Amino acid sequence: MSGFDDRDALIAAARRALEHSYSPYSSFRVGAALRFADGSVVTGTNIENASYGLALCAETVAVAKAMDGGVRGGLVAVAVTGDGADIITPCGRCRQVLHELADLGATDPVIWCAGTADVAETRLSELLPRAFGPGHLD
Ligand code: THU
Repeated sequence: MSGFDDRDALIAAARRALEHSYSPYSSFRVGAALRFADGSVVTGTNIENASYGLALCAETVAVAKAMDGGVRGGLVAVAVTGDGADIITPCGRCRQVLHELADLGATDPVIWCAGTADVAETRLSELLPRAFGPGHLD
């Protein structure tokens, strides 16, 4: 797959992931989907907690699932979608979490932020310029 097919398939995967959101406190469901260079896709959704500040974002859950499966790089694309009609972009913490996985494979993934009607396309490096990463600890 390439181009729009790839984009729309990844957004569709993020929308499916959102169906499993556990978000009783915000009632704001978020789905994320990660595509890797080998074509594999890993999804995540937001998981909230009665201790509100402990909520896990969809993107962070997806990265944790991928890394738990042994993935250490190859992140080429990310799709994020929320419940509302508006486009949502990954929060600051998620940008940093995504950067760790991207940096391991020296990729700069395209980020598709999907609303009901529109899709905003950006890059992780645009969302998180001059990012702190593993190399800074050398
Ligand atoms: N949320 C995400 O899952 N990803 C983001 O990038 C932004 C926010 C979730 C966290 C919380 O469960 C809900 O959206 C409302 O903030």
